[in-house]
Amino acid sequence: MTQIPEQDRVLIFDTTLRDGEQSPGATMTHAEKLEIAEMLDDMGVDIIEAGFPISSEGDFKAVRDIAERSKQAVICGLARANPKDIDRCWEAVKHAHRPRIHTFIGTSPLHRAIPNLTQDEMADRIHETVSHARNLCDNVQWSPMDATRTEWDYLKRVVEIAIRAGATTINIPDTVGYTAPVESADLIRRLIAEVPGAGEIVFATHCHNDLGMATANALAAVEGGARQIECTINGLGERAGNTALEEVVMALKVRHDIMPWHTRVDSTRIMNISRRVATVSGFPVQFNKAIVGKNAFAHESGIHQDGMLKNAETFEIMRPADIGLAETSLVMGKHSGRAALRAKLHELGFDMADNQLADIFARFKDLADRKKEVYDEDLIALVHAGDDPENDRLQIKSLRVVCGTGGPAEAELEMVIDGTGKTARETGDGPVDAAFNAVKALFPHDAHLQLYQVHAVTEGTDAQATVSVRMEEEGRIVTGQSADTDTVVASARAYVNALNRLLVRREKSAPGEDTRAVSYKDAG
Ligand code: KIV
Ligand code: ZN
Repeated sequence: MTQIPEQDRVLIFDTTLRDGEQSPGATMTHAEKLEIAEMLDDMGVDIIEAGFPISSEGDFKAVRDIAERSKQAVICGLARANPKDIDRCWEAVKHAHRPRIHTFIGTSPLHRAIPNLTQDEMADRIHETVSHARNLCDNVQWSPMDATRTEWDYLKRVVEIAIRAGATTINIPDTVGYTAPVESADLIRRLIAEVPGAGEIVFATHCHNDLGMATANALAAVEGGARQIECTINGLGERAGNTALEEVVMALKVRHDIMPWHTRVDSTRIMNISRRVATVSGFPVQFNKAIVGKNAFAHESGIHQDGMLKNAETFEIMRPADIGLAETSLVMGKHSGRAALRAKLHELGFDMADNQLADIFARFKDLADRKKEVYDEDLIALVHAGDDPENDRLQIKSLRVVCGTGGPAEAELEMVIDGTGKTARETGDGPVDAAFNAVKALFPHDAHLQLYQVHAVTEGTDAQATVSVRMEEEGRIVTGQSADTDTVVASARAYVNALNRLLVRREKSAPGEDTRAVSYKDAG
């Protein structure tokens, strides 16, 4: 059963792996989901929504494996309002040390029209499905999807039905990001005041950011009496995303004077998980994003720098260390040894097994030979770049590109594909295009390039470039990553990394499975 938190405690419910991952193109691999779940558990997130088990075999396995490995956090799965979904969800979460079933149905007039149910028919469905979930699990969350556009009387009625049927948490979603802070606070306040039994359960808030008000709406809901905030790392999520975990956690910390509630989240782990989610989802964080953006703690202007040197509080309301952001420093050079690398990675929040360290050490040495100064950011990029190359079916052996004015670029590429060496020479509209054409000549495929993105990790012309490549084939979407001081090499490796991931996906799923054979938006 859900523990009602002390009055000044707000539960953090992270849905990066469910609502966040639903964002088109943000699909993560099984191993990445397990890794993110472990990071969330370790940082003190109270509830992890690990996925939507009925939507695909991959989602089911991810939720099940996350449940089995969970430590402190409650592990929750999403289910639509029907017994089949709920049973499948229970099968996946039941292994958790603390499982939860989250079932929902769209209650606004527009959403009621999809399954074509009358108000009474839907009310019956809610009673039956919440009771069914409660017979399986003593921790049940129920959500009236599009609550903020549901008629007040009907919302009140169905919330009461769900509580009577055994829901222990009632989540009030602002599914389309329509509400405003005053309304958000008022809605929760009125539900708590007017629905019988409301004082016995936890109210949650789930906000989308379509009007840029998701964080403000979530905090206002807490003001109104909600004690669970649903959010994602970096605000990842469909369309404009969800409330960002880092924003609510830091707002409650920094403005404790006017918002006297606390969370259990260790804020010093924010930066690390933010970077990891950006890498595995292929959704980079915008530079001026609150808390975790590259510029969030940068003070460029002369006036700011002068003030900062005299007293950091002049322009800083929180310290970089509060979110685990170490000062950028010149850390390592080509003479640094394995022990120093291990210690530095530990300081940055990465504890490596010996075989992982050996791989990163080899890549670090290679980088240090080519790049004068190796910064913290360079090491982080090395840790996050690509998969386990030894197990990849496609591997790049060498790449030479000739480009310039007066003609197309030309790429000469040598690859090993399933153990056999192959070479191709192709031209293209610029060096990256030529390299990609060469990969395609050696490994013909119909996957469609959806996104190609390059970021410089640090300043300077010898900076490493991190490249993300997102590809789609018959509904399967994968993102490949790589980092190198040579942008063309990083691009080719990211492309090949995406193809390797696609091959894994092909083996695991039928075409179209990743487009969500069932959509969470189908209410019934
Ligand atoms: O935004 C929404 O309404 C949701 C529900 C499934 C809770 O994500
Ligand atoms: Zn949502």
